[in-house]
Order: sequence, then structure tokens, then C-alpha cells
Amino acid sequence: MQKVDYALRYINYLLHSKTKFGIHSPFLFNLVNEVLYDKTEYPAYKSIENLKKSLLRSTEIIEVTDLGAGSKTIKSNRRPVSKIAKTSSKPKKYGRLMFRLARHLKPLHILELGTSLGFSSAYMAFGQPQSKLTTIEGCPNISAIAAQNFRQLNLQNITLLNGNFDEILPRWIGQNEFPTLIFIDGNHRKEPTIRYFEQCVSKAVKGTCLVFDDIHWSAEMEQAWEHIKYSNSVNLSVDLFFMGLVFINDDLSKEDFQIRF
Ligand SMILES: C[S@@+](CC[C@H](N)C(=O)[O-])C[C@H]1O[C@@H](n2cnc3c(N)ncnc32)[C@H](O)[C@@H]1O
Repeated sequence: MQKVDYALRYINYLLHSKTKFGIHSPFLFNLVNEVLYDKTEYPAYKSIENLKKSLLRSTEIIEVTDLGAGSKTIKSNRRPVSKIAKTSSKPKKYGRLMFRLARHLKPLHILELGTSLGFSSAYMAFGQPQSKLTTIEGCPNISAIAAQNFRQLNLQNITLLNGNFDEILPRWIGQNEFPTLIFIDGNHRKEPTIRYFEQCVSKAVKGTCLVFDDIHWSAEMEQAWEHIKYSNSVNLSVDLFFMGLVFINDDLSKEDFQIRF
């Protein structure tokens, strides 16, 4: 039944989403044209995707500590690295989008909740090499492979923190210069997603973009997305079905879009 619901939500998105031709806001038009629909093959894509290919062939099996909503497809705590690479990392279409978002928004500091093997962190770090990127991962064995991947890609602008978002995020937010690009990609449940959003938003500055993964993954995530997009702090929300983007910028009028991606 869940799968049927998900498919129906996707069909509904396909029927109602706009392309760049239905957009009047110049800010959103530029975002769609220059970021969402940019088909340039940036050289960094190849380095990241070649590394991912090698992990898809890995025979290593690791013990996983799951602090989040877990995987719909992997049940055991001993998991092949190849399966984690296949199911936990975003498909390259979305990784590439994170690269282009970082490139376009030019944040000085990026925050990511949910490193996994480090692919989305790598896309963002390559997208804006001058920025600092902090990424948080709860499973020590997965973090160790991510750290190895960052070394292999020679990415020196990434700080990888190992621990639970619930403990690290509130402390981190109080002590750090606030990031203007935030990717929330872990613990896909309603209450924690809303809590992480509220914690981030309490310190967010004008121009901040928050990206949420899997906003239609479950009924809980749909409710979290509704809460986020209708929050008074959010000016513009963009639903790409597998991801949702919100912008905090009171120069923009309050609008919500579904964009074909
Ligand atoms: C979907 S994966 C992240 C994928 C990654 N962003 C990418 O696209 O390459 C989510 C990760 O979040 C971690 N996670 C989930 N809940 C967590 C929590 N409460 N604290 C810390 N890490 C958590 C999981 O261990 C998992 O590795």
C-alpha cells in the first residue's frame, strides 16, 4: 500500500509540476535555469562518480550503527559497503544538483546532516571549494570510509563530525558561524526533521537555503515538509519530489512551487 501511495504522489507531482516556462519570479527563474536545468558536465562529477563506482564493487562488509529512520531495503546491521553506496547515497542527478547549488549560492559555510559515504558532501565541497563544509554522521564505521573518500578526492575543506545529530546540532549551532546552505539528509522522520529545521532556522541569516531529502518518502516526511514550507520563517519553497528546497529571504514573496526536475 505504501508503494502505491508513493507512486500516486509521484504521478500527482508529474501532473502539477511546472517547468521554467511557468515561472514569473526572477529569483526562481534563475535558480531553475542556471542550477536545476544546467546540463554542463563539470569535471568534478567524474572524480566523485568514479570513486562511487569503485565502492559499488567493494566486497567489504561493515557493522552499521543506525541512528535514523533506517533503510527501507537493508535490514541487517552488518551491511556490504557496496549496498550502502547503492541505497544510501543520493543518485548522481541529485548529487550534481547539490554541486550546482553550492556553486550558485556561494555559501561561506555549508552544513550537512547525514554524510554516509560522503558523496553529497563531496559534490557540495567541489561546487564551492572556498567554503567550509561541516558534515555529521552517526555511524563510526561509515564515517571512517567517508573520511577515506575525502582524502582520496583531496578535499580539505570538509570537517567530518561523528555522533548523533540530536546531540551535536544544538551545540554546534550555538558555537559556529552560521551556514547559508544546509542539507538535511538523515533521520527521515517527522519530529526530528521539524526539530532540526527549527534549530537551524532559529539562527538562520537572510539568504539561507535549506535542502531536505525525501520529502515524500513517508506520511511522516510529508507532514514534516508541510510544516517546513508553511513556516513563517520560510519565504520560498521548491518541491522537486525527491528533494525540497526552502529559502529564507524576506525580499522574496511567500510562494510554494512544484518544479519538474
Ligand atoms: C541517506 S544517508 C546520507 C546520504 C548522503 N547525504 C549522500 O547522499 O551521499 C543518511 C545518513 O544519516 C545517518 N544518520 C541518520 N540519523 C542520524 C542521527 N540521528 N545522527 C547521526 N547520523 C544519522 C545515517 O547513519 C546515514 O548514513
